[in-house]
Amino acid sequence: MLFTSDIADRTWPPGSPRQASGGLALPSPARCCYLRPIMAEQATIIDGKALAQTVRGEVKTRAESFLAKHGRQPGLHVVLVGDDPASHVYVRNKEKAAAQCGIAGEVHRLPADTSMEVLLAKVAELNAAPGIDGILVQLPLPKHLDDQTVVDAVDPAKDVDGLHPVNAGLLVVGRPGLRPCTPSGCMRMLSSIGTDLKGKRAIVVGRSTLVGKPIALMLLAENATVTMAHSRTVDLAARVAECDIVVAAVGVPELIKGSWIKPGAVVIDVGINRLDDGRLVGDVEYATALPRASAITPVPGGVGPMTIAMLLSNTVDAAERRV
Ligand code: GUN
Repeated sequence: MLFTSDIADRTWPPGSPRQASGGLALPSPARCCYLRPIMAEQATIIDGKALAQTVRGEVKTRAESFLAKHGRQPGLHVVLVGDDPASHVYVRNKEKAAAQCGIAGEVHRLPADTSMEVLLAKVAELNAAPGIDGILVQLPLPKHLDDQTVVDAVDPAKDVDGLHPVNAGLLVVGRPGLRPCTPSGCMRMLSSIGTDLKGKRAIVVGRSTLVGKPIALMLLAENATVTMAHSRTVDLAARVAECDIVVAAVGVPELIKGSWIKPGAVVIDVGINRLDDGRLVGDVEYATALPRASAITPVPGGVGPMTIAMLLSNTVDAAERRV
């Protein structure tokens, strides 16, 4: 039998998890005891805030060299229609983050009763402007406007959301293109902890255009064996339990129980759900998944911060491709 005295770098006590971006948490000397049996190693908590900062730093460096080379900053323009308070907060965060990274831009705030004609004319104007590299139309649009029609109107070369059917098609056929931000952020999180996806079983729970479908294709491109699960999947618990990588993007608070997680699996939780008591939780039951997973993203502070960072990264990608 092995004892922890044989192994130097186990974390202890249980509940003192390792941080992915900051090295190992130190064991608490006060809790050390002589010849204790080995506990399962605690999960690495993948710190999305820290990783997003790293990505933003890379974006800033690239934006500066773009400016030095081409005499202008990469440009990101956001179109925001209506008064949805959450959308206003998201857009302000994008605006601030872009400015901090040396990306020029503007937010075009349009009234809630904007017609489709006026909105499409605005998109056409931004498509035609040479100094604009990225266009993002904040979704959802007010009910009288069709999201897809507007997404389709954005020049695919400026579609930093990666939602245009041309970019979706490029992802399907495995050719370079602008990729959706949240799934790109998840992939970056997996690579940040050195996850080898080749031949691994991965499950994506949720089949949205924004996250589920694109991340399944990205995992497949890295040679994972991918299961797509959704609301009609039979015996979800058994399907999840087979997998080495679990991506939860279903929008149901704590749907995926810790007891379903295969010991040692990597868990990426895209869900951000506000409970009645005000708490924010993911799609995975974090407290029970933590002791089983080898790595897991928290909510909040996991996938969330990565989305804006990848939007900025896409903007510099688009700028570099357009010159
Ligand atoms: N609304 C919430 N998330 C997003 C996003 O990633 N892109 C756009 N365009 N709208 C959103």
